Amino acid sequence: MSRRYLMCRPTYFAVDYAINPWMDPTAPVDAERAVAQWTTLYELYRELGHTVELIDPVPGLPDMVFAANGATVVDGRVYGAQFRHPERVDEGPAYLEWFARNGFDVHAAKNVNEGEGDLLLAGQVILAGTGLRTEHAAHAEAQELFGRPVVTLQLVDPRYYHLDTALTVLTHAGTAGNVAYYPGAFSPGSQEVLRRLYPDAIIATAEDAAVLGLNAVSDGHRVVLPSAATRLAAALASKGFQPVPVDVSELHKAGGGPKCCTLEIRGRMEVQG
Ligand code: ARG
Repeated sequence: MSRRYLMCRPTYFAVDYAINPWMDPTAPVDAERAVAQWTTLYELYRELGHTVELIDPVPGLPDMVFAANGATVVDGRVYGAQFRHPERVDEGPAYLEWFARNGFDVHAAKNVNEGEGDLLLAGQVILAGTGLRTEHAAHAEAQELFGRPVVTLQLVDPRYYHLDTALTVLTHAGTAGNVAYYPGAFSPGSQEVLRRLYPDAIIATAEDAAVLGLNAVSDGHRVVLPSAATRLAAALASKGFQPVPVDVSELHKAGGGPKCCTLEIRGRMEVQG
């Protein structure tokens, strides 16, 4: 149940450009409040018994706080990110360098992919988003590197531009597990795939999705999610999970939430709960 995460303090956080529909560079952002909200999340993980590593923020990279996009790490193997937008391109090498320096087996990507934003480990399989950010070709690259089947899911709504804004993995053990998701973010075929794989999934409402409630972090029992996602919290509790709400309103202005701020580091020998 104890996890290892990588986070990046939002020292240079800002909304200076708009690369998703949530970002409005003309709206005020309280950078100090963003740091305070992030710090609460960081301390919460530690209170929950998780280990949190930190990467130094880089000036001029305001979205670097969204560590989930920095790479995908499974069995100690690191698949580097290659960002779609020029504004974020330099984050890829910054994260890959951190992993190289810390002794991981690093692999630079040949295709555009935004790390765990679009590649979510769900037991033996990787659920992978495409259509808005990560290229379909990156799914094959990830499958080859990690030796796990990758299930391609087509994202169709620009508000849910990363898979982790539309779906959250709640539990995974072997090929079983459960997720919560918002069907409206997916193509009809991908909705059918999700129904087949997860007949017992929690279906999020449009309201929960719009507060980025699905941008949540589960350790198999406790689920850290935006406090605005009240219906989702109730649905989780009714299924035996423990919702842990956090206020991430400033980070939401960049289109982010708790999961965006959290890159899971999965070591070679780790057994996932
Ligand atoms: N402003 C960032 C972007 O649009 C937000 C990234 C959020 N990260 C995530 N894992 N969904 O790229």
